[in-house]
Amino acid sequence: MSIRTLDDLLAEGVSGRRVLVRADLNVPLDKQTGEITDDGRIRAVLPTLSALTGAGAKVTVCSHLGRPKGEPDPQFSLRAVADRLGELLGAPVHFATDTVGDSARSTVEALGDGAVALLENLRFNAGETSKDEAERKSFADQLAGFGEAYVDDAFGAVHRKHASVYDVPARLPHYAGRLVLREVEVLSALTGEPERPYVVVLGGSKVSDKLAVIEALLPKVDRLLIGGGMCFTFLKAQGHEVGTSLLEKDMVETCRNLMERAPGKIMLPVDVVAADAFAPDAAHDTVRADGIPSHRLGLDIGPETVAGFAAAVKGAKTIFWNGPMGVFEMAPFAHGTRGVAEAIAGSGAFTVVGGGDSAAAVRALGLDESSFGHISTGGGASLEYLEGKTLPGIAALEN
Ligand code: 3PG
Ligand code: MG
Repeated sequence: MSIRTLDDLLAEGVSGRRVLVRADLNVPLDKQTGEITDDGRIRAVLPTLSALTGAGAKVTVCSHLGRPKGEPDPQFSLRAVADRLGELLGAPVHFATDTVGDSARSTVEALGDGAVALLENLRFNAGETSKDEAERKSFADQLAGFGEAYVDDAFGAVHRKHASVYDVPARLPHYAGRLVLREVEVLSALTGEPERPYVVVLGGSKVSDKLAVIEALLPKVDRLLIGGGMCFTFLKAQGHEVGTSLLEKDMVETCRNLMERAPGKIMLPVDVVAADAFAPDAAHDTVRADGIPSHRLGLDIGPETVAGFAAAVKGAKTIFWNGPMGVFEMAPFAHGTRGVAEAIAGSGAFTVVGGGDSAAAVRALGLDESSFGHISTGGGASLEYLEGKTLPGIAALEN
């Protein structure tokens, strides 16, 4: 890999130099209070930022948050993130209230050696995500003006061909940050020759989101365990009725083909927790996977399934897990995710947790993060990496 790294940049010397860092500070916010509910992605970028500030660089950080539509939208402001980042770094983070406007220019200009600024949400500018190359490039020109060097530590966004991820590194000497390097190192071990048995656990709501990764992984894995909302489309493909559970009708045939292609490899729930409604206080019972009542919807995998999945991961040497097993945000439907996560953590295998939701689940359920080999900060990015796709942000660093 011909990527220059943060260590190469540090070796060149950064004292007094302006460094632009692309981070993925896209953290979940509480809908009511706007508070950060999981700061994992902020903490994940601290090693890179501390190395730069410690070496005396003038550091400008930029990121997206959520999916605003190319114009300022207060609910997606990064201001709260700037405050949290400052607390974690133990030094104030100077916040620019725009991306490349007057506030950004004066904030960057005023930075002293070893100081940090954060620009407002990049997606407040249409140029960040634009499909129009000229619009994207003109935004990239302005962003690149804030640095003499560019460090990409936004692993969660490397699959996006966006101005700050793809076009800025073409304009500045560019380096991979510590987080990006670690993520690539771990995920490349999974795509190479992982130690067997190699077990993959997939959850989350939609089969369609995971289809490409299932296709890519199926020939490589020894076992593929499927829970979460997506299991109901597979159960339907097995010929079971799924009541009012989440169902992607147009994927049923695809699921049937996948199961036929790899007989015995795909493991589905044998019992599920079925509820009257999508609510934490809904009436619910554990039922057989082939006996979901017509008026009920499955919101978690059942205890027998947890035991079966736990047995399947027990002997594994490599495990990749992406996606919760149920609606873990609601206590009655968190047992499946907790049970499977604990089994993975206790397996003795090399374990990788992929993705925003599963990483958030680990922390929300109070599980010990250090009992997993690696918790990825990238949801879509880690899946696309495992699919073998070219990731624009990584490709840009290789050039
Ligand atoms: C993520 O949360 O998956 C990353 O931050 C990328 O965000 P996006 O899916 O909105 O591009
Ligand atoms: Mg995403």
